[in-house]
Amino acid sequence: MIKNVVLIGFMGTGKTSSGKMIANQLGFKFIDMDRAIEKKWGMTIPQMFEQHGEAFFREKEKEMCREVAGKKSVVISTGGGTVKDPDNVAILKQSGKIVCLMASVEAILERTATIGQRPLLDAYEDRRQGIVELLEQRKAMYAQADYTVDTTDMSPLQVSRDVISFMKRR
Ligand code: S3P
Repeated sequence: MIKNVVLIGFMGTGKTSSGKMIANQLGFKFIDMDRAIEKKWGMTIPQMFEQHGEAFFREKEKEMCREVAGKKSVVISTGGGTVKDPDNVAILKQSGKIVCLMASVEAILERTATIGQRPLLDAYEDRRQGIVELLEQRKAMYAQADYTVDTTDMSPLQVSRDVISFMKRR
């Protein structure tokens, strides 16, 4: 019996695109926490940041974390900052195997170039610098994963195969 797969990692590392493929191949349901929060609250994440602030979003993120962690046979794609809260990490660790997706700063910059989708990055005048700083702040949190994949030069399909082979070795 394969456990839930919990994808953590910085923005633009491929959690959503690879997560959907992992779920497909395992016959699991795919849950994107950010999309679930947006659906529940009837607003986009950028709108939530703008109208209520980051702290409000983090509260809703924590609630969603508890909600999805209790499900079975799911692939959960977290937001890039979900693991900033140690309670969330503890909850997710009980739910399944934690897989961290990483990528180079250049790849992240390219994959997150659209303005208006990532409020945390939009707040930086120098986007590249913002990515470097946030990655540095968060690296210890991402290091808590059971398994890590560098997706820089990989397609989502390749990433999904790599993650599935890790899950089957467990
Ligand atoms: C965030 C990442 C975003 C989203 C929110 C905050 C972060 O998710 O949860 O904008 O703190 O890194 P993605 O990693 O899916 O872009």
